[in-house]
Amino acid sequence: MDFNFDIIAGYLPLFLKGTLLTIGVSAASILLGAVLGLFVGFGKMASSLWLRLPMSGYINFFRGTPLLVQVLLVHFGLVPMLIGETNVIVAAILALTLNSAAYTAEIYRAGIQSIDHGQREAAYSQGMSHWQAMRYVILPQAVKRMIPAFGNEFIVLIKDSSLVSVVAAPEIMYYANSMRGQYYKVWEPYLTAALIYLVLTYFLSKLLLLIERRMEA
Ligand code: ARG
Repeated sequence: MDFNFDIIAGYLPLFLKGTLLTIGVSAASILLGAVLGLFVGFGKMASSLWLRLPMSGYINFFRGTPLLVQVLLVHFGLVPMLIGETNVIVAAILALTLNSAAYTAEIYRAGIQSIDHGQREAAYSQGMSHWQAMRYVILPQAVKRMIPAFGNEFIVLIKDSSLVSVVAAPEIMYYANSMRGQYYKVWEPYLTAALIYLVLTYFLSKLLLLIERRMEA
């Protein structure tokens, strides 16, 4: 195993480009997924069966099928259907958003349902409406409990965004694969990719810890 640092150095500009795309795609997907997940999550908690059923179906589908399959379905099926042509960036963000929404929906639901029933009853006994109780009593407590789970979701998403390399979205793994193809080397490209993901998730987890501490203070 003759490890060649020179070829890594030569590929660094491309890895940097890939890293920026990985960060961009993951950040966009976690934000969009959090918004979509809000609708899915509250839909699943609704009293109407017609709202609950499709939302349950949505969550089951996106959590119960491999992300890899979803990426292929979105890239070759959904995106051409929506915009008339393929676009790897759109496909990457859309697939990760749809997937993440299923997970964030459950984060919202778990957060809200973790608040003791007595809290809601106390709010009602003060004459608050359902939405007032939600806004002033339940949500402020629930949101605090959701933060760590959201952080976790972001870290998972950064790592799982590597799957969009199968549709040639030029992120970190895409360049690692092309480097392997160019030099017939495996350790250099994949260890470099691993190291980049490690740095990203390490700093993100530290940042999240900081935010959690802030929220507690
Ligand atoms: N690794 C899972 C799969 O292949 C995807 C998990 C996505 N997780 C998430 N929290 N968004 O299906």
